[in-house]
Amino acid sequence: DRSIKIAPSILSADFADFGREIRAVEDQGADWVHVDVMDGHFVPNLTFGPPAVKAFRKHVNTFMDVHLMIAPVDPFIEAYAEAGADLITAHVEAGPHIHRTLQAIRATGKKAGVALNPGTPAEAVEHVLDLADLVCVMTVNPGFGGQKFIDMTGKIRKLRQMIGDRPVHIEIDGGVDPVTAPLVAAAGADVLVAGSAVFKGGSVSNAEPYGENIRAI
Ligand code: DX5
Ligand code: ZN
Repeated sequence: DRSIKIAPSILSADFADFGREIRAVEDQGADWVHVDVMDGHFVPNLTFGPPAVKAFRKHVNTFMDVHLMIAPVDPFIEAYAEAGADLITAHVEAGPHIHRTLQAIRATGKKAGVALNPGTPAEAVEHVLDLADLVCVMTVNPGFGGQKFIDMTGKIRKLRQMIGDRPVHIEIDGGVDPVTAPLVAAAGADVLVAGSAVFKGGSVSNAEPYGENIRAI
């Protein structure tokens, strides 16, 4: 299904109120919920361990997209699968064995994603496309929400060509807003992660702006 899906990143939600934030963005039209896991080592920020993700799961009725920005990643795949991820994405830069990592994600029964930092070429995933359900193209250097979009449309086009007929999503993560979304969608992306551009102007007690923001994207 290549229709455009919006995946709000709860990195921009109220950290004291995740359950209600997740339900609010889903009520307002989110297609997926994107969970950013950071280890303070692969990226310079710290977020959610498996128990936190397991707690989020109880509130997600759509599809929980777990983006692991951690290295090493293999020792934690099972824990995030058990926490209730529907899809687990690992970075190609997080270790020397992305092929093994994607096999390990699939072995848990979950969908598998592979992410590329801005400095990493499309060719880095060329030989694992049969093991992936999603390729995530980072359009910021991962670690924080609210950063400026880095244009990766050439990489997106190249990936769409490499993917061909395979049922592989292209997800864009970082700086997606109503201006940048059409550029990446035209280049072949179908899953748009957005944190600050979804949550800005709203709150759990005033969630309509979330819906307006999602529709604007
Ligand atoms: C960046 C994260 C993103 C981030 C997106 O490290 O992977 O998911 O939360 O936030 P915005 O949409 O604000 O760039
Ligand atoms: Zn992310």
